[in-house]
Amino acid sequence: MATLEVKNISKSFKETKVLKDISFSMEKGEVVAIIGSSGSGKTTLLRCLNFLETPDNGQILVNDEVLYDAEDSATKSEAEIRRNRLHFGLVFQSFNLFPQYTAKGNVMLAEQLLAKNRPDYKKRKKEILTEIEEKAIRILSKVGLQDKMNNYPHQLSGGQQQRVAIARALALNPDILCFDEPTSALDPELTGEVLRVIKSLADQDTTMVIVTHEMDFAKDVADRVLFMDGGVIVEQGPPEEVLLNPKEERTKQFLSRVQSI
Ligand SMILES: Nc1ncnc2c1ncn2[C@@H]1O[C@H](COP(=O)(O)OP(=O)(O)O)[C@@H](O)[C@H]1O
Ligand SMILES: [Mg+2]
Repeated sequence: MATLEVKNISKSFKETKVLKDISFSMEKGEVVAIIGSSGSGKTTLLRCLNFLETPDNGQILVNDEVLYDAEDSATKSEAEIRRNRLHFGLVFQSFNLFPQYTAKGNVMLAEQLLAKNRPDYKKRKKEILTEIEEKAIRILSKVGLQDKMNNYPHQLSGGQQQRVAIARALALNPDILCFDEPTSALDPELTGEVLRVIKSLADQDTTMVIVTHEMDFAKDVADRVLFMDGGVIVEQGPPEEVLLNPKEERTKQFLSRVQSI
């Protein structure tokens, strides 16, 4: 059973076709790196997976369940979308933490909100909140921030903020964790700590889609690389094929451009 199946997704903004018939699937524990020039549709694809955009055509399945079908309006209701979003975690380029909450508060927030809908919330509030806090502490330790849990975002470096954002995305146990250029907004000396955390998640069999410009990292961490250009997947395969021995002319041109920078 595939963890994620994307079938024939298309998306236009007005007259501009940004995604054209995108299909791919992922097995549990697989790491897919998406590479491609700016404007090729990478962010739009991640936004479609997280239901921040509504695809014009196609389907999205997680664990064989149809979460989205452009032909089926029942899958497009607000309530459905809110529920379906929980299958995905998303880490943005700019960390997007809530400045008024500590690192721990940021990680706890989504679960605290969800817990309020639990039928036993009133009766077990204290216990439930303790559980959520303990889990946040566990996850923050996992990303190496056990000493920074009570710091506010402005008291953290960019690399530390991004690790909080990763912890926050992990808090709801998503089936698939998505990253959109997770190190692009960081000073070069801070990229390593974030890439190491992502690598450690890969080693723990986290299913991940990572949009990245870090070719060495993609080579190191990805099971499969997708090269996108002009809204289509031009080529996909193991990193040693796509990155070292590409078949398509467009992939070769892209790689020689990024490698000459
Ligand atoms: N909300 C939007 N409205 C109009 N055009 C958009 C919107 N979002 C993205 N685009 C266009 O879609 C194309 C792909 O953008 P994007 O998915 O951000 O590419 P990438 O992440 O690969 O750089 C670009 O030409 C961009 O201008
Ligand atoms: Mg982008």
